[in-house]
Amino acid sequence: MTTRTLRIAMNGITGRMGYRQHLVRSILPIRDAGGFTLEDGTRVQVEPVLVGRNEAKVSELARLHDVEHWTTDLDGAIADPTVDIVFDASMTSLRAATLKKAMGAGKHIFTEKPTAETLDEAVDLARIAKDAGVTAGVVHDKLYLPGLVKLRRLVDEGFFGRILSIRGEFGYWVFEGEHQDAQRPSWNYRKEDGGGMTTDMFCHWNYVLEGIIGSVRSVTARTATHIPTRWDEQGQPYPATADDASYGIFDLETPDGDPVVGQINSSWAVRVYRDELVEFQVDGTHGSAVAGLNKCVAQQRAHTPKPVWNPDLPVTESFRDQWLEVPANGDLDNGFKAQWEEFLRDVVAGREHRYGLLSAARGVQLAELGLKSSAERRTIDIPALEI
Ligand SMILES: NC(=O)c1ccc[n+]([C@@H]2O[C@H](COP(=O)([O-])OP(=O)(O)OC[C@H]3O[C@@H](n4cnc5c(N)ncnc54)[C@H](O)[C@@H]3O)[C@@H](O)[C@H]2O)c1
Repeated sequence: MTTRTLRIAMNGITGRMGYRQHLVRSILPIRDAGGFTLEDGTRVQVEPVLVGRNEAKVSELARLHDVEHWTTDLDGAIADPTVDIVFDASMTSLRAATLKKAMGAGKHIFTEKPTAETLDEAVDLARIAKDAGVTAGVVHDKLYLPGLVKLRRLVDEGFFGRILSIRGEFGYWVFEGEHQDAQRPSWNYRKEDGGGMTTDMFCHWNYVLEGIIGSVRSVTARTATHIPTRWDEQGQPYPATADDASYGIFDLETPDGDPVVGQINSSWAVRVYRDELVEFQVDGTHGSAVAGLNKCVAQQRAHTPKPVWNPDLPVTESFRDQWLEVPANGDLDNGFKAQWEEFLRDVVAGREHRYGLLSAARGVQLAELGLKSSAERRTIDIPALEI
């Protein structure tokens, strides 16, 4: 049996996402399982190289997780001929430069979103990947979540009939940081550091809408900075210059050309009265479904109750009990790890990853046009992107 070992320089692994989702929940479990086997019997193993600015932090993580190689020299790791893949989960504002350098050095790249702060930069990255002939993957984690996998299966099976609408509700209360520590980094609330709800989440919503329903044709958004002052990691107050909520309406088009209305509320200033932190409801002529991160419930036309609006009467039925859970019917692994494995297979096969930099650029485009829509208070059509 041949083994192909892929060396992955992992930048930003001291951060929330880089550490938890990518290192601890994806790459280390793959490594500790001895890799995985391809259809032709080849074993694929991974060898992380931890990269970060803070020597003490990076070396401690390496020690803690039994990782042999680590460095504080990002440029050196990118130039290292033994490194196959450069992964980036560092601060958004630093990303495009890192990815450009990595692809310029002929490395395959796997990266957190958003890929860039501007559409031009994001498209440029897609062009560079194409010219360099490297495999580029961008985190599209929500599409690998069990709840959304089940929702997509219902679409594929024609469960909904004609799809009419999709609505999403995302968010939770992020503490200001004054009396209780904030559970998100302070740069998320500073526009000048690449923060903001629209920038952060519309790139997710773009691939979720594309992946479940179809193309996004227009956007109408209203952003808000509900909490104008927050407290940073040092306990100092700072002005929140970025939007902490974004309310969007999207015109969608299915692959058959049918129009669907999409609407997603995203907020870090909302308290959760939902089963999960994000939920999507799809309504169609023949059925409806509600999917969260894990669970998905559905209701068929034949089981649809017939409520009659009468505000003078108390509710007579329990609407939530009228839905049936959609089973997984299989093992649905952690979404980040599932996408990593798919990406690594693509690297070994020398082919494109299905969620690459052009899809990511459409995400950046949606965020940019969402912000523009809010600033100009109008609906904006979304032009097709080409490279
Ligand atoms: N896929 C998802 O669901 C998801 C969720 C949250 C965040 N993200 C993305 O992941 C990325 C990281 O977000 P996070 O929440 O982990 O942030 P974080 O602040 O916890 O981590 C950022 C990382 O960047 C490094 N960093 C910060 N400032 C730096 C600087 N000036 N120079 C060099 N390195 C610096 C930090 O040391 C840390 O390793 C962001 O681009 C964000 O958009 C994705």
